[in-house]
Amino acid sequence: MTWWREGVLYQIYPRSFADSNGDGIGDLGGVVEKLDYLEWLGVDGIWLNPINPSPNIDWGYDVSDYTGVHPDLGTLDDLDRLVADAARRNVRVLLDLVPNHTSDRHLWFRERPDLYVWQDEIPNNWLAAFGGGPAWTLDDERGRYYLHNFARAQPDLDWWNPDVRDEFDRILRFWFDRGVAGFRIDVAHALIHDRRLRDDVIDVEAREGAHRIHSMNQPEAHDILKRWRALAETYEPPRILVGEAYVLDLEGWAKFYGSGDDELNLAFNFALVHEPLSARPMRTIVANTERLLPAAAWPCWTGSNHDVGRFMSRWCDGDDALARCVLLILLGLRGTPFLYYGDELALPDGGVPTDRLRDVAEPSRDPGRTPMPWTPGDGGWRDPWLPLEDTSRNVEEQRADPDSTLNFTRELIALRRASPDLRLGAYEELPSPKDVWIWRRGERTVVAVNLGRGAAKLDVEGRPLLTTGGEFDGTLNPACGLLLAVD
Ligand code: NOJ
Ligand code: CA
Repeated sequence: MTWWREGVLYQIYPRSFADSNGDGIGDLGGVVEKLDYLEWLGVDGIWLNPINPSPNIDWGYDVSDYTGVHPDLGTLDDLDRLVADAARRNVRVLLDLVPNHTSDRHLWFRERPDLYVWQDEIPNNWLAAFGGGPAWTLDDERGRYYLHNFARAQPDLDWWNPDVRDEFDRILRFWFDRGVAGFRIDVAHALIHDRRLRDDVIDVEAREGAHRIHSMNQPEAHDILKRWRALAETYEPPRILVGEAYVLDLEGWAKFYGSGDDELNLAFNFALVHEPLSARPMRTIVANTERLLPAAAWPCWTGSNHDVGRFMSRWCDGDDALARCVLLILLGLRGTPFLYYGDELALPDGGVPTDRLRDVAEPSRDPGRTPMPWTPGDGGWRDPWLPLEDTSRNVEEQRADPDSTLNFTRELIALRRASPDLRLGAYEELPSPKDVWIWRRGERTVVAVNLGRGAAKLDVEGRPLLTTGGEFDGTLNPACGLLLAVD
């Protein structure tokens, strides 16, 4: 079994997952304590958002030491313990690699300025993604401008400099040697900038940075990713690369798989994330994904993360029945699903009062990053770093309730694990009534979800393996879905 194709992955925002020492900040010890839970749920791997030392301007996405662990989160020994304890449960650990930029407090920024991008004057119209204004800031000490595609405190590395490539080879090896199973690659599409520093097109309507045609989205990013894939393949088992290639145009996105087996192993499909929860547009994204991916490549689905927030809020408006349909979609499509911590509870975004917001970005992404509710009441947290206002959906109570979304998710994961069709079978769209989406996986498995407002008659014969709620009598009610075994 190729674990990363057939398995289910689970994203953990470490500060918000579980706190082992009661200081209000989730940590690696907390993840270790919850491995029993993750094993019970049935996940095959976890991805941890950045755990490196960082001034936390952007909560770890401003790294000041690539081979250390942030003291808030624990120590290198804790990480080793996590990797070892997880391995005993057949759970792999992926870390987050942030190669586009460092923190301005990284020693390199003072001691190795040649690793960054400098100009005497602001050379073009590039804009910073955070904080507004130019992507160039004057460094008082040097009297020159440095490039930062994100916040001022996140100077971009110069990927045209071979020394940067060598440094990152060392960083990858450092973690791979410790048994880390792979990396999620931050802004994989943005790694390298146009060498001639040509202007971006100013298009305020452009979706998700598509107008950044020269500050990001350069073809040379593929060379870097290919180099890492080759390095990852020298390990046994091969380590994997999961890219945050934030490209909504599927043709451009598919290129991050190279010829299918020589670049990213997986690339999050953000095109789906940005569609409404609606059968027709989602079917179209999936059909195009299937058409455009090289034969050897493997799709990768997600509905929530620490940037886009939780699908329960974005797609389901708090409706648990719809959330189960989403889970059925994510786990029923061909490809690797990533759940975001709390998705299994149908957790919505949390409430964060304005005076407690801590994100560098606007609008704030904090509502999607609030602590995991483990129990009713305080959720298992003492004075957490972000508030936990609502624990009405929590692990303890849902675990005890056989009809909960948590137990639904667990059953779905178990069915997937037991079914070669669901893990590996081809995707084939079947004729569907309006607002209903029906597809076959492999030989004998059919998935159907009704995302519309009216009941729909299903003319597929089969034996229900799992429903999002209640018995199936041939009619699929709104916000209902099911898995069928067919002959
Ligand atoms: C994408 C990360 O997911 C996001 O959280 C971060 O702010 C930016 N990259 C910059 O690193
Ligand atoms: Ca802690």
